Amino acid sequence: MKIAILPGDGIGPEITQQAERILMALAHDGLKVELAHGLIGGSAVDKHNDPFPEATRRLAEEADAILLGAVGGPQYDQLPREKRPEQGLLAIRKALNFFANLRPAQLYPELANASTLKPEVVANLDILIVRELTGDIYFGTPRGIEVRDGQRVGFNTMVYTESEIRRIAHVAFQAARKRSSKLCSVDKMNVLECTQLWRNVVEEVAKEYPDVALSHMLVDNAAMQLIRNPKQFDVIVTGNMFGDILSDEASMLTGSIGMLPSASLNEFNKGLYEPIHGSAPDIAGKNLANPLATLLSVSMMLRYTFNQDATALRIENAVKKVLASGYRTADIFEQGMIKVGTAEMGDAVLANL
Ligand code: IPM
Ligand code: MG
Repeated sequence: MKIAILPGDGIGPEITQQAERILMALAHDGLKVELAHGLIGGSAVDKHNDPFPEATRRLAEEADAILLGAVGGPQYDQLPREKRPEQGLLAIRKALNFFANLRPAQLYPELANASTLKPEVVANLDILIVRELTGDIYFGTPRGIEVRDGQRVGFNTMVYTESEIRRIAHVAFQAARKRSSKLCSVDKMNVLECTQLWRNVVEEVAKEYPDVALSHMLVDNAAMQLIRNPKQFDVIVTGNMFGDILSDEASMLTGSIGMLPSASLNEFNKGLYEPIHGSAPDIAGKNLANPLATLLSVSMMLRYTFNQDATALRIENAVKKVLASGYRTADIFEQGMIKVGTAEMGDAVLANL
């Protein structure tokens, strides 16, 4: 199992370090892991003036799976767009064709009070957002800012080919089949042609999955329904931009964005695994970050790329035990619990592995 570790920026190095400790412990128990490290994002710009250097691309291509911390920081905001850390993330997704982004939002019962929603609204929440990751307005051309008739104009292009829609729809229908066979496709077909095509193609693909109950929802309504009654959803499939927004929204249903892992897969189940949160520069280097989303990303890696379900379960159960024992990082802390830092949370998970 060749795993490339790309710590990135901000809290990235601290959280991936905890993941490495878990992987080393599993290696000690016989899991055959081989780790290699690379630079991405701001740390790669600092060293190579490129957020996705050639060496990192090669490392990623040779690995079976990639674990990424987070990228970005205020010191890079003034750089030209192609030098910004976020471009490194977009480039690795595109270069390795990681088009299927799975973002589960699951509420641990112990954290029911950490959500800003009423506990009964979010209790037992377990939804999966399947976000298309290599198309849409994120990558569409033409794009830019230019002067037309004496004033600046900014423009981007929302574009999907039917084959891009079809392949993500298949991923979503298959994921739904493994859960409760309910799929909601989110679009904005009342306004945007691109998403009219989305809806048409999803309906065509649905014919191959008569056992899955498909529904459609407009994105503005979906944003509202996620807060009003999130448990009506099981699997949601949507495009790159709507998925970006709805997955941040869904994360807060679970109390903290610091809890949510993600997998971005290509057609061979090679994957890029990362917490869905960002680099949190304000708390970087202070041993304050919650490493659990990263540890849970390792468990997704074991499941999706390596088919090691039993080992994945060891990590998930260890995280549950640690939460049940009252350990909390600052982002999920409540009165009466035991406040711990990044490394101590790693210790606790290791101890329960
Ligand atoms: C995410 C992030 C990225 C995205 C940024 C950092 C480019 O918000 O993974 O959700 O927009 O996809
Ligand atoms: Mg996002």
